[in-house]
Amino acid sequence: MENFPVISLNKLNGERKATMEKIKDACENWGFFELVNHGIPHDLMDTVERLTKEHYRKCMEQRFKELMTTKGLDSVQTEVKDMDWESTFHLRHLPESNISQIPDLTDEYRVVMKEFAQRLEKLAEELLDLLCENLGLEKGYLKKAFHGSRGPTFGTKVANYPPCPKPELVKGLRAHTDAGGIILLFQDDKVSGLQLLKDGHWIDVPPMRHSIVVNLGDQLEVITNGKYKSVEHRVIAQTDGTRMSIASFFNPGSDAVIYPAPTLVEREAEEKKQVYPKFVFEDYMNLYAKLKFQAKEPRFDAFKAVNSTATTTMLPTATA
Ligand SMILES: [Fe+2]
Repeated sequence: MENFPVISLNKLNGERKATMEKIKDACENWGFFELVNHGIPHDLMDTVERLTKEHYRKCMEQRFKELMTTKGLDSVQTEVKDMDWESTFHLRHLPESNISQIPDLTDEYRVVMKEFAQRLEKLAEELLDLLCENLGLEKGYLKKAFHGSRGPTFGTKVANYPPCPKPELVKGLRAHTDAGGIILLFQDDKVSGLQLLKDGHWIDVPPMRHSIVVNLGDQLEVITNGKYKSVEHRVIAQTDGTRMSIASFFNPGSDAVIYPAPTLVEREAEEKKQVYPKFVFEDYMNLYAKLKFQAKEPRFDAFKAVNSTATTTMLPTATA
């Protein structure tokens, strides 16, 4: 088994070609990679971790325990297929921040999460341009593709996966692909649990101190016409320790129109009609909300069907 790809971003200075090749290989064959030396200060990450764990203990833990008892999840006897063993809250950064409106956050936590999000936003933009370079797309292509009328959407899901008495019966988070663009994850460096599906096997995404795990969402699969793929992943709850997971989603704007980059649609794919569909991102998200934990292909097919109906109705009526 090959090793999970770990990329030292500062090697772009000096070992650029080899590093770009590593990123390309990770995007084509894994849909995931782990970044070290990414430029986000470690002391900022330490503060984010400390405040996130404090917030969980003070504001979330008791509520989570009560909820799990109410739902009977702590004493299940058969596999649970419609719920996850996770405690979450969401922050939005772009197009406008809602951090000031989220209840129960200390002022310090708000400030720190804002700064962390700004750093992640820059890193996401930098990564998108590295992907453009590897794909032969002009610099800024992906950022522009995500823009819509109000710029990209950027948000963070703060999650904790507390110890679970029945991890074989209830998942921390059920298997899914991410709907959006590029996802940057700051995960617990001690409590593991994140796994990705590669060649039919679940593989651990190794916890590594101060790293940022990157994965590609469905939108990048569409824009690259399948050259890069969003990969299924899940969280296995652990019996010991609470796993912290801070996932930030750099996604298209809600009215951005997503479609395969014309230069990436090879003639063969076009002839065999293996071309990904075109749609408005918000419409995709509405469908995803209903089908998140199902395979992604029916989502793409649903929009292909809409596209072909639209094309048929636009064709001139045949005359004898
Ligand atoms: Fe995910």
